Parts: sequence; structure tokens; C-alpha cells
Amino acid sequence: MSTARLEGKVAIITGAASGIGEAATRLFVENGAFVVIADVQDELGDQVVASIGPERCSYKHCDVTDEKQVEEIVTYTLEKYGALDIVYSNAGIVGSVTSTLDLDLKAMEKTIDVNVCGCVAMMKHAGCAMVARNIHGSIICTVSAGATRGGLAPAGYTASKHALLGVVRSASRELGMYGIRVNCVSPFGVATPMACTIPGVKRFRLDPEFVEAQMSSVSNLKGMVLKPKDIAEAAMFLASDESACINGHNLVVDGGFPDSMDTFPVNKCKAVLDIARWSISKVKFSSILFIFVPRFLISVFDQTRDGSKD
Ligand SMILES: NC(=O)c1ccc[n+]([C@@H]2O[C@H](COP(=O)([O-])OP(=O)(O)OC[C@H]3O[C@@H](n4cnc5c(N)ncnc54)[C@H](O)[C@@H]3O)[C@@H](O)[C@H]2O)c1
Repeated sequence: MSTARLEGKVAIITGAASGIGEAATRLFVENGAFVVIADVQDELGDQVVASIGPERCSYKHCDVTDEKQVEEIVTYTLEKYGALDIVYSNAGIVGSVTSTLDLDLKAMEKTIDVNVCGCVAMMKHAGCAMVARNIHGSIICTVSAGATRGGLAPAGYTASKHALLGVVRSASRELGMYGIRVNCVSPFGVATPMACTIPGVKRFRLDPEFVEAQMSSVSNLKGMVLKPKDIAEAAMFLASDESACINGHNLVVDGGFPDSMDTFPVNKCKAVLDIARWSISKVKFSSILFIFVPRFLISVFDQTRDGSKD
């Protein structure tokens, strides 16, 4: 007997060319599902398909902010695989990282567009397809530990995730009437490309190990290091029949960090000091001087210069 938990199920995963979505794609396929990867990073999406194998998954460009593209990916999935049992609506962006006092409202609209409207569009079109075919499917969204408190992320992002949690709760009631479950997973910090980008310093990527060390240090679950696969496991539970009676639930995956922890707005001086301290503990002094420090200073300088041109 197969132990695969998603045997023969068909899933769409958005934002699956990278990070948590990519990990979920691998895990869902390992557990017997067919997955359609929906993303805007075409090259990365194709690479994920090539590394898993095109017989179990496929990539289709889909910008979740374009409702037509969302509708098309649902149609594509139904035509290619003949069903749609699971939608993992995971695509998201951090957006503007400024404090509320100098918040760029246009940038905030973009964050809401991707993080909230993109998920609503997926729910709408996947939900209609499931209802029409009497599929008792499962829809999961990636929300955030920042969806129930302030100070963990920038204001626009926090607002978007609070809103998305509301959408999940509301949709679970409406779609529950058709046997469709709607739940979400809420991660704390996971060292994906999103979390390794320093706010305001686009061209410099933090070392994932550094980010993991920072996140772990505030968790009260000793030794916990959150990986994309941990979030994927939570999503798989909600996608599988093991959670058949769970609807409208927010599954928080955070190791139980303290409520009082605030990280935003970012104190850039403290961030630089933390990075420097961590680097010193990891690499030889000569490599910091000659490689790491100049690279970091150049990218900060570039950003400052770009910023002053705007
Ligand atoms: N990494 C964390 O610490 C963390 C914490 C809480 C919540 N989350 C949430 O997890 C989800 C996945 O993020 P991640 O950490 O894996 O980051 P990531 O940047 O590695 O992945 C996000 C993916 O979404 C895709 N994407 C962005 N805009 C899109 C659009 N308009 N249409 C389609 N795809 C789009 C990106 O191309 C990327 O592949 C996001 O919703 C994020 O808000 C992440």
C-alpha cells in the first residue's frame, strides 16, 4: 500500500519557483501529487521542473495580480491533468520596507495586489472550478506570523497578511458549503531569497546561515531552525486528507517566539553590527577585510546614491 499522502492529487502552487513554494512542490511530488508551478520567474520555474522531472510537474508563467492569467492557469491544469484538488496560494512579496511615517502608498498597493488580491483571484477561479466539478478540494494560503501582530514586518506587508488571514477565514465559511476547505500556514522567518534581502539594500543578499541564526536566537523552542521544508510539511498536512475536518485554520509555524519581539522598523546600524559580528565569528579576518566589507559598503553606497537620485 502506498504511504504517499497526496497520491494522484493535482495541485497548483503559486510562487513555486523559489523558497517555500519550491520546497512544497518537491514535497507534494514526493508524496504522489502532480504539481503546476505558477510563478513570474520563468527561468527558475523551468529549472525546478527540470530537476524534479516533467512527468510529475510543469511550469506555467502566471502573474497572480493578473486575473486573466490566474483563470488561464486553472484551465491549463484541468486540461493537462483532468482535475484540481489542491491550490497552495503562496506567492508573495515584502514590498516597501519604509516606516509608516514615510510609507509609499503606491508601493503598498502593489503589496496588497500580490499578497491579497492574487490569493483572492486564485480562490475565486480554483473555487469555481472545484464547485462546478463537485471536487471537495483544499485551498491553502501562506500568510505570516506577522498576520496577528505588529512590528514583525513593514506596515504594508503586515496589513496585507492581516487582510489575507481575514480572506481565508471568510472563504472557509463560504466554500465550506461546497465541501472545499480553506486554511493557511503562517511562518516566522525562513531564510528564503525574500528573507535574505536586506531592507533598502537590494543588491546585497544576506547569508542564509546568518538569517537562520538570527531567527533561531529569538525562538523559545531551543535549537529550532525553520527551513522551507518545515512550512511545506505544514501545507502538505492541510492539503492532505489527514486534515479533512480542519477548515478556516491558521497553522502558525514559528517555534513559539515571544510576543514582545519587534523587528520593524529596521535599525540599520544594529543590522550592520549584527552582520559584522556574525561574519567575524564565521570567517577569517583577512577575508572580511578584503572581500565582504568592500562588497557590502559598495552596495550600501549604490543604494544611497540611487535613493538620492529619486
Ligand atoms: N520567508 C519568510 O520568512 C516568510 C515568513 C512569513 C511568510 N512568508 C510568505 O511565504 C511566501 C513565500 O515566500 P518565500 O519566503 O518563499 O519567498 P521567495 O521570494 O523565495 O518566493 C516568493 C515567490 O513568489 C513569486 N512571486 C512574487 N510575485 C508574484 C506574482 N505577482 N505572481 C506570481 N508569483 C510571484 C516570486 O517570483 C517567488 O518565486 C510569501 O507569501 C511570503 O510572504 C515568508
